[in-house]
Amino acid sequence: MSNGIPRLGINIDHVATLRQARGEEYPSIVDAAQVSLLNGADQITIHLREDRRHIQDYDVEAVRLVTKRYGKPLNLEMGVNPEIVEIAIASSPEWICIVPEKREEKTTEGGLDLLDDDNFIRVEEAVKKLKSSIKDIKISLFLEAKIETLLRAKELPIDAVEIHTGEFAQVFANGDDYSKFIEQYKSAREFLNNHKIACHAGHGLTDESVVPLLESKIFEEYNIGHWIICHSLFNGLANTIKSLKATFEAHPLK
Ligand code: PXP
Repeated sequence: MSNGIPRLGINIDHVATLRQARGEEYPSIVDAAQVSLLNGADQITIHLREDRRHIQDYDVEAVRLVTKRYGKPLNLEMGVNPEIVEIAIASSPEWICIVPEKREEKTTEGGLDLLDDDNFIRVEEAVKKLKSSIKDIKISLFLEAKIETLLRAKELPIDAVEIHTGEFAQVFANGDDYSKFIEQYKSAREFLNNHKIACHAGHGLTDESVVPLLESKIFEEYNIGHWIICHSLFNGLANTIKSLKATFEAHPLK
């Protein structure tokens, strides 16, 4: 956000979803990362799920090489499973976003439940291990914009919270009143900023639903995936990202 424009993280998981659907070597996740970075992505986001339904272990390494070549951050989304934590340590991304993970879900369905003490301890242990093992790592937690959850989050040595925007995006898509979400997100941002924690957004966003969020100038980073890859089928990945980036550039934070 150094130039006042919110950062655009491109989540390329679903390029791997297409590849895994047929067990082929295409479409190439490396090409997807490269085209994204050449056309305005500020970072690449990938989610290494426990069931490896899209991103594979070798993808993490391959995408890491691309982000390093372009000097842009890799944001690795992950649950706190010890095996995945070890892979994260080996690949040493710039950012890690810790998300809840259930094998049976279609996608991440909501933020981490930090009100559950066992869960909180698991997240705390993972955050501490990652912080002590990866030099300069920045960590975000994927959370709902609820004050009781944010109060627990601030007990942890984190750099950002990524607010789950999935429900907002659904309400927006249905044409319903989404103003309560904007109010919640504003309060969340104020709380987080008071504790020197950055405020990111992600999940379910499209070129249309992201606009009221950009207009409200709440978030300094957005991670968007599924809509981008779907829209790229008809419009191409480069054009889709260029046009989304132009929307971001029309909405500086100040
Ligand atoms: N942020 C987080 C934490 C996610 O889990 C996901 C989905 O992997 C995204 C952003 C991107 O969501 P979408 O693919 O719906 O744009």
